[in-house]
Amino acid sequence: MEEIKIGLLGFGNVGTGVYKILEENRNDILHREGLKLKVEKILVRDVHKRRKMIIDSSLFTDNIKDIIDNPEISIVAEFMGGIDPAKEYILAALEKKKTVVTANKEVMARYWSELEKAAQKNGVGLYYEASVAGGIPIIKVMGESLQANKVYELMGIINGTTNYILTKMSEEGRSFEDVLSEAQRLGYAEPDPTADIEGFDATYKLSILSSIAFHARVPIEYIYREGITKITAEDIAYGKELGYVIRLLAIAKKQGFSIETRVHPTFIPMSHPLAAVRDSYNAIFIRGDAVGSMMLYGRGAGDLPTGSAVVSDIITACHQSEKHRYTTFYNEAQVSEEVNFIKNWETEFFIRLTVKDKPGVLAKIAGIFGKHEVSIASMIQKNHNEDSVPLIFVTHHAKELSMKKAIDDIKCQQDVIRVENVIRVEN
Ligand code: NAP
Ligand code: HSE
Repeated sequence: MEEIKIGLLGFGNVGTGVYKILEENRNDILHREGLKLKVEKILVRDVHKRRKMIIDSSLFTDNIKDIIDNPEISIVAEFMGGIDPAKEYILAALEKKKTVVTANKEVMARYWSELEKAAQKNGVGLYYEASVAGGIPIIKVMGESLQANKVYELMGIINGTTNYILTKMSEEGRSFEDVLSEAQRLGYAEPDPTADIEGFDATYKLSILSSIAFHARVPIEYIYREGITKITAEDIAYGKELGYVIRLLAIAKKQGFSIETRVHPTFIPMSHPLAAVRDSYNAIFIRGDAVGSMMLYGRGAGDLPTGSAVVSDIITACHQSEKHRYTTFYNEAQVSEEVNFIKNWETEFFIRLTVKDKPGVLAKIAGIFGKHEVSIASMIQKNHNEDSVPLIFVTHHAKELSMKKAIDDIKCQQDVIRVENVIRVEN
């Protein structure tokens, strides 16, 4: 049986997981799949670095040519991260007619069309299951198991770091800063956590996921993004009183040719399936016209879960070498003219204000909401400190732009001390 030789780009968290799975499950893959897989070379930045996993040091190289120019290597698996030089190396591998498997959501979200064109031109595969939600096989499910459907909605917890932070804040009443520094100490959050806490990571993943779900390219520039840095323990506590749990949700909805895509902190009812997704777990809740509601749940990151997705892609690539399925939709960097990306979507809102404790303030605020056609569903007023009082409103469905105008007006009121937070609510 012919050995299939693989080049790995990266030997960090994901690379180590991939290597471990290929070693430990070698015999299963051989007997079950009839494939003899061999890691031929591993590209790293520093070949002398001490590694968590001890392997034959002759496998390491810091020269990409040892992989790209090796005609025996037919599959290149990339998990270096970032754009440069990952994109350049992926393109070089494709040009050398090597199939590429990647865990790199940023490269996929930004350069999907360019990479896919190069793969198509060279008649090789491009696989990216690991780029979204780690070990959850969401790309395959969306692209292969749900084609019978018109998927019209998906809501996902697709960033483990922020879910870990929000879970700890909710369950232990701690501040954002406190939990973030603990997560960094424990190695859950990156030393530079910006991509996670500001929602960039979830935006890249949503771009990939919603494009496949809606059969239309959704560039990251069309996704509204808001991170979790402004969420406070007070917001979470008031939300809890109202029966809500907070999550950083990636939301995509389609109606006719209109698509809305957004990543932001969101209150959901405690009874919602996504409310049970705690710590660093990921889940994607999908609604399709035929399948109804369904949810996939699992580990969205980590060496072995992500490695599971990468190795599964490698196995699929070996079986499908002659008939790789490229995306079936218009996959250009520019969006299709048929699609209309809407910004003025509707949600319910949670609004927390601190106002002066004076007669008539509540009536004035209610009047402003009314003027902008925002209807109040419920309100709570809490014990006050001296002459200020917290006011919390939950609205019925309202337009995003109406709410923005209402908040701008409210901010101008003399008796409003602060607009503490405005958080969207989904049911
Ligand atoms: P990581 O631990 O930082 O590992 C990166 C690896 O790439 C290291 O081995 C590094 O070499 C190598 N590398 C980086 N830049 C290089 C360069 N210019 N030339 C040669 N080698 C280079 O990263 P990771 O956590 O495994 O993540 C890798 C990718 O997978 C990212 O795109 C990430 O978004 C994605 N991903 C990660 C997870 C996860 O759980 N971590 C889950 C899903 C997807 P050295 O070891 O010598 O420094
Ligand atoms: N940083 C990501 C997360 C893991 O926290 O979910 C890689 O996708």
